[in-house]
Amino acid sequence: MTDRVVLVTGAAQGLGAALARRFFAAGYRVALGDVRIDMARDVAAELSPDGSRALALELDVCSKAAFETARDAILAAWQRIDALVNNAGRSEVVPVMDVTAEQFDRAIDVNLRSVLFGCQVFGRYFAAHGGGRIVNIASLAGQNGGTATGAHYAASKAGVLNLTKVFARDLAAQGVTVNAISPGPMDLPIVHDSVPADLLDKLVAGIPAGRLGSADYVADVAVLLAAEHAWFTTGACWDVNGGLFMR
Ligand SMILES: NC(=O)c1ccc[n+]([C@@H]2O[C@H](COP(=O)([O-])OP(=O)(O)OC[C@H]3O[C@@H](n4cnc5c(N)ncnc54)[C@H](O)[C@@H]3O)[C@@H](O)[C@H]2O)c1
Repeated sequence: MTDRVVLVTGAAQGLGAALARRFFAAGYRVALGDVRIDMARDVAAELSPDGSRALALELDVCSKAAFETARDAILAAWQRIDALVNNAGRSEVVPVMDVTAEQFDRAIDVNLRSVLFGCQVFGRYFAAHGGGRIVNIASLAGQNGGTATGAHYAASKAGVLNLTKVFARDLAAQGVTVNAISPGPMDLPIVHDSVPADLLDKLVAGIPAGRLGSADYVADVAVLLAAEHAWFTTGACWDVNGGLFMR
């Protein structure tokens, strides 16, 4: 166990829950922020039944004030924060010609504004307290335009990769690193539920590695990027895409 503390956003299910579990296994105390507070509480209770090492927080990542409230709640509980993982996100399969203004704005709000506000609130806190680690969950779609996830999603994730570099440069001298991970399609419920079965078969057949990715491995990469000795990696993006995109 360590004294280290991480906040994972969107931790109620999917990759976020995997992130919470892997950070917890690495000895962290874990705050799980999500709009689905009941599900976040279930994951927290599974990790730490007495609540001493896992804390569920109601957090809407579209709101800067909500990030500030989460920061204060974590400090009240544990008196320190070492890392933030901006994981919360949403995707919606819509043909590019049909994306509405509301759908576009919603994707930008949840996937990109969230990263802006998370990096502002926690970047400032880390900078004032000797350093810290931020890991932003981007996406292969943000690099290659995506296939099944929608143009608004792909555009928002491209923005995540760019904001990662902007914050990395801005915060480097204060010992704060900001990095991204770009997963390709993972073996997660959201992928099976949102991609029609015939399209999913085609998608998997097109992955050079021949299978969907592992959320646990993506979480392990986040743990590595959040480590204390990870201070020389910043502004980077770690690709986890089964060979779908190489650069
Ligand atoms: N599933 C994949 O294959 C895949 C691939 C690449 C990138 N990603 C990215 O990984 C991240 C996690 O995706 P997932 O597959 O676990 O999706 P998911 O839909 O299963 O989980 C997303 C979580 O974010 C939460 N959330 C949504 N809006 C929120 C808000 N406004 N405030 C706080 N929490 C909110 C949801 O409640 C949910 O718990 C996302 O950023 C996604 O874009 C996923």
